[in-house]
Amino acid sequence: MAEHAHPPEFEVLLDTEAIQRRVRELGAEITRDYAGRELDLVGVLKGSLLFMADLARAIALPLTCDFLRVSSYEGGTKTTGVVRFDFDLTQPIKDKHVLLVEDIIDTGLTMSFLLETLRLRMPASIKVVTLLDKPGNRRTEVPIDYVGFTIPNRFVIGYGLDLEGRYRNLPYIAAMKEPAAG
Ligand code: PRP
Repeated sequence: MAEHAHPPEFEVLLDTEAIQRRVRELGAEITRDYAGRELDLVGVLKGSLLFMADLARAIALPLTCDFLRVSSYEGGTKTTGVVRFDFDLTQPIKDKHVLLVEDIIDTGLTMSFLLETLRLRMPASIKVVTLLDKPGNRRTEVPIDYVGFTIPNRFVIGYGLDLEGRYRNLPYIAAMKEPAAG
């Protein structure tokens, strides 16, 4: 069977086993926290694709899955802060316990927009789980309830994260190599 491969300018940051272990831990924690309640998992596409699938299996509660997709207007840089819906949820979230599922929170602009927008729909509660948190690049404060891994300010691919659309299927996360010191 062919091996998954990342581009040579990348190196493994989080291997498959570490990710799977941490996802199981997050699932167990969420299962405890939401005991007795029904949960609406909301995946932010496309990056949350693999994490959502694994996390949903690690949560032992009645739950539903829905998805949305947003994108940032790129007015020169990605960090203009203007975000719009490409497509929205299929079901109302009023009175529901919503858990937003992200692959990564970077500047925080996407999540900040989503929380502000979805709160207007009056969910019973709304929380955030992200596999990766990159606090070094934050432009706005975002409350994050569950974090898989806090990572340095490096460009990462794999396990849902892409490089020009590719490499989302890597079962691990790879980071772009840093230039050698000296
Ligand atoms: C990524 C990621 C988050 C967002 C985080 O999505 O999945 O949604 O960026 O960045 P921020 O904190 O700086 O707003 P991206 O726009 O790359 O789309 P994709 O998930 O479809 O790859």
